[in-house]
Amino acid sequence: MTIGAPIDRIDGRLKVTGEARYAADFAVPNPLYGHLVTSTIGLGRITGIDDAAARKVPGVRAIYHHANPLPIAETSAFFGAGGRSQQSWQPFAEPDVRFYGETVALIVAETVLAAREAAKLLAFSYEAEEPAAVFDAAGTEAEELPDRSLSSGDIDAAMEGAAQVLDEEYDTSANTHNAMELFATTGHWQGQELTVYVPSQWVKGFQAGLAVELGIPDDRIRVVSPYVGGGFGGKGSLYTWTSLVALASRALGRPVKLYVTREQGFTVVSYRAETRQSFRLGAAADGRFTGFEHRGRELSSRADTYVVNGAEAAARMYHADAVRTGVTCVHADRQTPGFMRAPAETPYFFALESGVDEMARKLNMDPVELRRINDIDAEPVDGVPYTSRSLMECYDAAGEAFGWADYDPTIGAFTDGDDLVGWGCATAAYPTQMSPCSVRVHLDITGKAKVMVASHDLGTGAYTVLAQAAANALGVPVDSVSVELGDTRLPPGTIAGGSVSTASNVSVIEIACTSILERLGTTAGAMNPEEAFGNFGQSAIEEYAEWVPPAAGEGAGKSLYNGRVRIVGGAEEKYVAFAFGAEYAEVRINRYTREIRVPRLIGAFAAGRIMNEKTARSQYLGGMIWGLGHALLEKTEIDPRTGAVMNDNISEYLMPVNADVQDLRAILVPETDTKVNPAGIKGIGEIGIVGTAAAIANAVHHATGIRVRKLPIRIEDIM
Ligand code: MOS
Repeated sequence: MTIGAPIDRIDGRLKVTGEARYAADFAVPNPLYGHLVTSTIGLGRITGIDDAAARKVPGVRAIYHHANPLPIAETSAFFGAGGRSQQSWQPFAEPDVRFYGETVALIVAETVLAAREAAKLLAFSYEAEEPAAVFDAAGTEAEELPDRSLSSGDIDAAMEGAAQVLDEEYDTSANTHNAMELFATTGHWQGQELTVYVPSQWVKGFQAGLAVELGIPDDRIRVVSPYVGGGFGGKGSLYTWTSLVALASRALGRPVKLYVTREQGFTVVSYRAETRQSFRLGAAADGRFTGFEHRGRELSSRADTYVVNGAEAAARMYHADAVRTGVTCVHADRQTPGFMRAPAETPYFFALESGVDEMARKLNMDPVELRRINDIDAEPVDGVPYTSRSLMECYDAAGEAFGWADYDPTIGAFTDGDDLVGWGCATAAYPTQMSPCSVRVHLDITGKAKVMVASHDLGTGAYTVLAQAAANALGVPVDSVSVELGDTRLPPGTIAGGSVSTASNVSVIEIACTSILERLGTTAGAMNPEEAFGNFGQSAIEEYAEWVPPAAGEGAGKSLYNGRVRIVGGAEEKYVAFAFGAEYAEVRINRYTREIRVPRLIGAFAAGRIMNEKTARSQYLGGMIWGLGHALLEKTEIDPRTGAVMNDNISEYLMPVNADVQDLRAILVPETDTKVNPAGIKGIGEIGIVGTAAAIANAVHHATGIRVRKLPIRIEDIM
């Protein structure tokens, strides 16, 4: 059986032997090397630039900054059209500095070292102002976004009628992308044609955005990204330097290669912004939730209104008689944030799932049973049913593996020597979406097939599962299928984000394969290539198929990223689509040092049809590991005086390592969903991280009696 088979990654050998080429690995003739220079003030303006010493460094070819800019034609600010998801303003367009670590110059030289040497000698004079870079700084501006709120029922009556009301604040911190692969771009012009090598979750989007920024047609730009060393949202949209590199390359008549240093990656790219959430939950004495009110405040830049608004999903998890949500964008002197794994759900489910656990305590109920009491068939805001919902099956499967039957809610009940032991659990969910997509499938008389789509493998296993999809649909062995991804010369594929890739690509691959079999007059079960092509009278066949979202209107749902919760189906039958999961955590906290360890983390997930049990499990495990980091380690520390990132390196920005991960398990709960999309596939790339932090926080409370309502949870929070 091909679908679901835990086969090894077909690109695994290429990766471990170094043959897989990442963006910085592509050789170009006679390249120059670029290096970014970033601001050392958090707000103000450049009053002077002395580049005399920098110019004298042997090998320096050009120094670009606002007094010697590169001509970006127009900023492609709209992500959905392929532009930037963040920093809508142009680099070098003005002397103003809007945040600490903003790109203020690009140096291009014969070697990386010459460029970096020149960067040290490039002298900026600034007129600095005090930035308002954090929530509590004077001078931030709050912008309420009423059109992003949800409301149903009478929330005041629901709260008044409740037997118990929880009303708390939960804070999450800023997190920075630290994928193994650094951000790197190479721009290479051949005549009027530009090739860009850049790690990308969406080559077609980058191409469209570059066309706008460079003022040239799409078809003169090729974006190549066959392998990506970690995306997680950080490589989902165009960044400013990609255009700068292309323009510098054109101006200097040579290819330019640039990588963004680890330190610069803390300021010039997107990040997960800090949130402050108020969460009010009312419950009747029998546990049924009466009122659900969830409001978020999220930090963004001065210029850009970027919020993730996770209450939109949180509000659709449980029964509630009345719902109200709200979101406020707090504009500060910072870079615009952007996507990071389950951008909306990761921070907001910390509040949701901590709050539900707190309510279980108030009601003297088992936290799993409280969720069972509030389990629903239709979401409470619009009364729309789920395409499928296996939440409690996930709780039961993971709970059994974890041994939840032995749970004793008494604080400190499981103390073991010097270890305070605690157990906690939380819900994970992620909305299922589809993205426009087209693919080309080629099959020949020898039974060899090729799938071509400008989609991406971020390390997730896309090469492998798309081969499995085509092999299954055509009735040929998996090793007869080759897959080409990550190149704008291929048919326009989906973004690898929002957990949409597999659902979108497989749906369309199956359409293409079905029509190949129809044209050949055979079926997957009866596939005999020689015979089929013999009857067909040709030795090869190719089919192009595409999926475009239904036209806007009743029942069509919202487009990708324009609201994260998608309503699927038509006017007659509407559904809301989510994958669900449940995560259980055990913490052990040293009684004296208060060091927190997570010896056990067990999740169970139901996400429709699973293409490959091995790559799927790997996604879930990776998500949970990052969730552990989110819960206990990761925080981008901003100096409130200057706006500078204080821990802009991977020795001080803490992330989980192997020693932090012990008994970690992901259970795949079978689920068949015929409504969610043609392939019956829900996304799995992001759900693993959702809920982990709350499960750990709930376990910390069980161990210590201390309820920590902020992330990360540190030793000093549980003294
Ligand atoms: Mo994901 S954060 O939508 O790449």
